[in-house]
Amino acid sequence: MDATLAPPSARTEVRIDLGDRSYPIAIGSGLLDDPATFAGVPRAATALIVTNTTVGPLYAQRLQAALAGRYAAIHTVALPDGEAYKTWETLNLVFDALLSRGCDRKTVLFALGGGVVGDITGFAAASYMRGVPFVQVPTTLLAQVDSSVGGKTAINHPLGKNMVGAFYQPQLVVCDLGVLKTLPSRELSAGLAEVIKYGPIADAAFLAWIEENLDALLAGDPAALAYAVQRSCEIKAEVVGQDEREAGLRAILNFGHTFGHAIEAGMGYGAWLHGEGVGCGMVMAARLSERLGLLDAASVQRLTHLVARAGLPTVGPVLSAADNAGRYLELMRVDKKAEGGEIKFVLIDGIGRCVVRGAPDALVREVIDASCT
Ligand code: NAD
Ligand code: GLY
Repeated sequence: MDATLAPPSARTEVRIDLGDRSYPIAIGSGLLDDPATFAGVPRAATALIVTNTTVGPLYAQRLQAALAGRYAAIHTVALPDGEAYKTWETLNLVFDALLSRGCDRKTVLFALGGGVVGDITGFAAASYMRGVPFVQVPTTLLAQVDSSVGGKTAINHPLGKNMVGAFYQPQLVVCDLGVLKTLPSRELSAGLAEVIKYGPIADAAFLAWIEENLDALLAGDPAALAYAVQRSCEIKAEVVGQDEREAGLRAILNFGHTFGHAIEAGMGYGAWLHGEGVGCGMVMAARLSERLGLLDAASVQRLTHLVARAGLPTVGPVLSAADNAGRYLELMRVDKKAEGGEIKFVLIDGIGRCVVRGAPDALVREVIDASCT
C-alpha cells in the first residue's frame, strides 16, 4: 500500500468552491456520532432525517443523537429502499412528512443513505417551500465519492434516468468511513466503478494507485478507502468548481454513464446497480474511444481488466432480441447530454484526458454488438 496514506483515524476536508454556495466535505471515521461535525449547519426549530428502511435502522438513531442539541424536534422518514423507488411517489413521501410535521422554510433536511436517498432528499430540499437547507450524509461508497457532492438532485422517469431534478447544493457533506463496514460487497464494487472513473477522465496517477490498491479497497481497508474518497472528492470538486451546471466540462463526470443509463433503464431500474451500469458503460465507452482512434487497445484492455477485478460486469446485457443496438441507441438518445437527437459520448483521449463528442451510429452499433451477450 502507498506509504503516503493517512492513518485511518485521520479526518480530512475537501472544499467545494462555489462562492456563497461553497461547502466542506468532511471525510473520516466516527463523524456521524460527533456533534462537532455539524457545527456549521444552520440551527432551526426542526430537522428531518430522510433515510430508507435499510439504512434507518442502522444509523438514524446515531445521527439523531449527534444532532440533538441543535434542533428542538428531529423527525425521521424512512423511504422504501431501491432504485425502483426513485419516483414522484417516493418524493411525495418526503413532502408528506415535512407538511404533516409542520416543517417550515428553515427546517434542515439530512439525507442519510446512498445515492437514491441523497438524490431524492436534495430534490425535496430544492423544492420544498422553494428551497430549504440540506446536508448529505452518504452511507455508500458510491454516494461518498460522487452522488452526495456537486448538487445534482433528481428522480427517475420511466423513459429516462434522473430526468426530473434540480441543481441544488448541500450545506455540508459528511463521509463517515465507518458506515461502509455494513455495506454489502456488491454495493462496494458498484461504488468502485465511480472511483475508477476519475482515473481515465482526469488523473492517470490515481488510476495506477487504484490498480495497486484495489485488493485493499475490496477488503474495506479504512486507509485505502479514506484516500479513494478524498481523491475522488478532490477531482469532483475541481470539476464542479469550474462548471457547476454542466455547461461543458462537468460532462466528463458522466464517463460510462451514457451506455450505463441505457442499461439501467432498459433492464428496469434496480436490476443492474447504477455502478454496475457505469462499470460496463466505461468498457463500452473505452471501446468506442478506440474505434474512433482516440485510445490504444492496451488501455482499453487495462481498463476492462480493472473493472472486472473490481467485481463489475464488462459484458453488456441484451436489451432487445430484435434489434439490440437499436434499443441502446433509442435509450441513449434520451440522455441529458444529447443535443437535437445526437448522442454525446464521453470518450477517453489517452488515459487522464477526455473529449465529449458524437459518434456515427454505425460505429456505436459495432461497439454494442461486440460488447453484449
Ligand atoms: P442506493 O442508494 O440504492 O444504495 C445502495 C444500497 O445500499 C441500498 O439498498 C441501500 O439501502 C444500501 N445501503 C446504503 N448504505 C448502506 C450501509 N452503510 N450499510 C448497508 N447498506 C447500505 O445506491 P447508490 O449506489 O448509493 O446510489 C445510486 C444512485 O445515485 C443512483 O440513483 C444514481 O443515479 C445516483 N447518482 C447520482 C449522482 C449525482 O451526482 N447526484 C452521481 C452518481 C449516482
Ligand atoms: N455524477 C455526475 C455529476 O455529478 O456530474
